[in-house]
Amino acid sequence: MQDDLIGWLERHRSTQYELHREYINPAFVKMLKAIGFDKNYVRGEGCYLWDQQGNKYLDLLTGWGVFMLGRNHPAIRRALHQMIDAGSPNLVRMDCGIAAGLAAKALVSHMPAGLSRVFFTNSGTESVEAALKFARCATGREKIIYCDHAFHGLTTGSLAVNGASFFRERFGALLPGTCAIPLNDPLSLEQALAKHDAAAFILEPIQGKTCQVVKDGYLAEAQRLCRKAGTLLIVDEVQTGLGRTGRWFCFQHWPEVEPDIVCVAKGLSGGFVPVGAVVTRPKIMDTVFDSLEHCVVHSNTFGQNDLAMAAALASLQVIERDKLVENADQLGQYAMSRLAQTGSKCPFVTEVRGKGLMFGIDFARPSNSLKLRLAWDALHKLNFGVFGQMIVVPLLNKHHILTQVAGYHTEVIKFLPPLIATRQDMDWFLGAMEEVLADTQRIPGAAWDTVMGLAKNVVRA
Ligand SMILES: Cc1ncc(COP(=O)(O)O)c(C=O)c1O
Repeated sequence: MQDDLIGWLERHRSTQYELHREYINPAFVKMLKAIGFDKNYVRGEGCYLWDQQGNKYLDLLTGWGVFMLGRNHPAIRRALHQMIDAGSPNLVRMDCGIAAGLAAKALVSHMPAGLSRVFFTNSGTESVEAALKFARCATGREKIIYCDHAFHGLTTGSLAVNGASFFRERFGALLPGTCAIPLNDPLSLEQALAKHDAAAFILEPIQGKTCQVVKDGYLAEAQRLCRKAGTLLIVDEVQTGLGRTGRWFCFQHWPEVEPDIVCVAKGLSGGFVPVGAVVTRPKIMDTVFDSLEHCVVHSNTFGQNDLAMAAALASLQVIERDKLVENADQLGQYAMSRLAQTGSKCPFVTEVRGKGLMFGIDFARPSNSLKLRLAWDALHKLNFGVFGQMIVVPLLNKHHILTQVAGYHTEVIKFLPPLIATRQDMDWFLGAMEEVLADTQRIPGAAWDTVMGLAKNVVRA
């Protein structure tokens, strides 16, 4: 490497996929090349990315929800530059950093009053790991209840509460004492709680892999049942938190809900420095850190680092100052209602669902067109889950909009626009969706040719 880091990177740009194939993950490179996603992005700003040829892309994937404020937000950059230039006494460890104290105070100011203690982490999965440990410690119980199709991260504790065998299989025994139930089914929860032996029930208010939303009343009922059984309610807001769904936290769509533990990450980083947090009640935290001997019984080396804290503080300020929670609410309603209208004309679309700027479109075998049904069956005989590429690939290659299917083995495409997106951005996306959904109904047609080719390649591979 040389002094001019950026120039040095630029000179190596043409080798980026080759380097990843050689040193990082060849299977991932193969997948990107197969669907034509092997672009050379050279710049990111706000809601957009630019490739080497100067093409502008609308980013609705946002780094899996990280770029809630868009890319390279000037206020976050400024805060980080200031922190670096100040030469702050970072991570002394045997002191109490001012930035962490202020970031914790700012974060809890958007939570119900009872949730007033913060443990800072470095990622979403680390927040979940901490939440599970805190719940076990506070209750003295081991069992954790979670939902089918849940996603809480991929380290072994979080994986133990992952609701898809695709992620769990091949990695051996995980945490003992976990128990899966269907989402939105209070009776199953009641049965799982019946022995009063569960430490916690953990769930996402909108499931990241399915975009399934908790039904009105479900969280409140889950809270009631958990309290009756002495079980803690953990709401994983790693993806839904910080304004994404049109409330500071998604559980706040239902005013009677006050979880015992809330997991946060992604957008808190401002898109720059990995950071997460667990927010909980003093009583719960005090059972974990219950003595001088136990005062760092749960800890991490990089938690509370000054750059992460600066990013978190600046992000919280921007979300509030620029009324991004309100924007997510209004723009999300606009996008979802127009997408549902467009979807109602496409026989493959079963539902548009979500909240705020986290919404998805679900596809299924059509019931009212023999031609489309036969095409669907032929494709699914080759590969389940490849149908989504008929939407995602032309969205990128023809309309310059970056998206991804929501999860493996699902037919859902999820959209996570930045909270700073405008109506023009949504119109760009909605116009593209109209065309792409119309193309799915042209048989024979280019969209079907592409996706059948892809499915055959997967089978061959
Ligand atoms: C709800 C939820 N929890 C936890 C995680 C894990 O976060 P990370 O990838 O930062 O570990 C994710 C990641 O997508 C998530 O959506």
